[in-house]
Amino acid sequence: MDILPEIQNRRSVRKYQQKDVSDEQIELLLKAASLAPSGSNKQPWDFIVVRSAEMKEKICMADHNQKWMLTAPVFIVCVGNETYRGDGDMERVIRDSSIAATTLLFQAEHMGLSACWTGWFTQDEMKPVLNLSENHYVTAVITIGYSDTKPAAVKRRELKYKVI
Ligand SMILES: Cc1cc2nc3c(=O)[nH]c(=O)nc-3n(C[C@H](O)[C@H](O)[C@H](O)COP(=O)(O)O)c2cc1C
Repeated sequence: MDILPEIQNRRSVRKYQQKDVSDEQIELLLKAASLAPSGSNKQPWDFIVVRSAEMKEKICMADHNQKWMLTAPVFIVCVGNETYRGDGDMERVIRDSSIAATTLLFQAEHMGLSACWTGWFTQDEMKPVLNLSENHYVTAVITIGYSDTKPAAVKRRELKYKVI
């Protein structure tokens, strides 16, 4: 199975159709995220599914008021949670929860859904909105839905690597 086409076709989508995403679809996305690798298999992440218009509005406000976000029927917030490690190592929590969020993006593409990772917020702005403590780090607010646009591919730097 070749997954390069899905990796290549995935785009950050910032305009969605007024079409809902089911709980079953959300659960598949979360299942994929939960299968991501993590250091010592600590899985230091939690997810918050946001459907309430009021909560979406508050989150959007804290996320630099990126109004386009409100076109998405669902947000999934990926939260790093240090209590699953218990060693105070927030860097590893952020690393591992980022892998989970990335895995979710590719599952969305595979399912014909679109998404955009957003992170234009500070922890001080976002955590109170979600009632999160200092053990938490909001890694990503991911908008999910059916795309209402066809974004052009964004250029990547020329691939370079060393063999040593
Ligand atoms: C950590 C992170 C934060 C991002 N934050 C935002 C954001 O706040 N708003 C936004 O419109 N896009 C955001 N993006 C999407 C990037 O702009 C996008 O991934 C990049 O331009 C490449 O485009 P592509 O995803 O379509 O390949 C973010 C992406 C990442 C990985």
